[in-house]
Amino acid sequence: MYDIGQAEIEAVTKVLTSKQFMRYRGGEGGYTEQFEKALQDKFQVRHALTVNSGTSALICALAAMGIGPGDEVIVPAYTWVATAMAPLAVGAVPVMADIDESLTIDPEDIERKITPYTKAIIPVHMINQPCNMDAIMAIAKKHHLLVCEDACQACGVSYHGKRVGTIGHTGTLSFNQFKNITCGEGGAVLTNDERYYERALMYHDAGCFTRSHASTIKEPFFPGVNYRVSEIQGAIMFEQLKRLDGILDNLKASRKIMAQVFAKTGQFRPAPHHDEASAVNMSIIFPEAASAKAYAEKHHLSPISESGRHVYTNWEPLLEQRAFHPKMNPFAWAQRKIEYTPGMCQKTLDIVARAINLGVPYNVTPEAARAGAEKLIS
Ligand SMILES: Cc1ncc(COP(=O)(O)O)c(C=O)c1O
Repeated sequence: MYDIGQAEIEAVTKVLTSKQFMRYRGGEGGYTEQFEKALQDKFQVRHALTVNSGTSALICALAAMGIGPGDEVIVPAYTWVATAMAPLAVGAVPVMADIDESLTIDPEDIERKITPYTKAIIPVHMINQPCNMDAIMAIAKKHHLLVCEDACQACGVSYHGKRVGTIGHTGTLSFNQFKNITCGEGGAVLTNDERYYERALMYHDAGCFTRSHASTIKEPFFPGVNYRVSEIQGAIMFEQLKRLDGILDNLKASRKIMAQVFAKTGQFRPAPHHDEASAVNMSIIFPEAASAKAYAEKHHLSPISESGRHVYTNWEPLLEQRAFHPKMNPFAWAQRKIEYTPGMCQKTLDIVARAINLGVPYNVTPEAARAGAEKLIS
């Protein structure tokens, strides 16, 4: 969470005093709908649907694209575990692919992991670092695969003039507490495809066939779940979105100063970035794990390998292929035996042990950003 204040307090107060907390209440046009329109406008995407988390957004997007039992979905071996769990929620199985030094999925390993059963790829724009979307979309086109961008950790970040999340067939955002903009818990599905939008809308709202907007839907109705947000979340997000570009510009300016200071020494190599001009994140890569560890200890940081559940080797329930019910286990529906081993993405393990995310200071003067960066090279 970077920036929140009086505007959000006033918007929430308005909702509370109106006593209309639900977005669908027989009259649309509330904060959530206004937020979606503003999001579509800012992100230049035809459809945006607000849901109650980034995980829900991923599940909705996969359901919308028709991913299901028997399908394989390629995900990076370094991401928040929800990326890999979302395919399971629709009956498909995740197949992990290595990352490269950009800390995002390696397009070459995507190609190696494709089988006759692969239906989709979820590239993850980790820690505000965009994936190599040109290469990923080319692979998807060549192999007739669908792409759901996980932009949960990179809301608003640009990739060569486009916002991440708007390049694939679908895209997802998270608005949880740690994201670029937040309402505590929340998310969004983005797509330029009307059919995927209608299917996501249905899935997120118990099939939505009883709603006043049901008559506009061309897809046959199917049952769904409840991933709706309340107007309280909608109100906060409506105001948060206005702050997004200011937050990103602020991070970009600090990141630029850090890069200049680091370049002076020639000793620290920033993780390669797929759109350097728009970069808002700074991670550094060491030649070997020992030097990363020593640097991390000296500066009270930790290598990415120690960032908890973000590395596949820590995803025990998934690696052990468990499910809440034995007859609802997607691994039993897979069209081949799926095997996970601790060493299956060795390249990822090597990179995360050599990489440190430094974090970019927010809302500091250029002098303070420079002084902070100087400390990091001492
Ligand atoms: C890469 C990534 N994907 C998905 C999610 C899930 O988002 P949420 O926590 O809003 O469900 C997160 C959240 O941290 C994430 O970092």
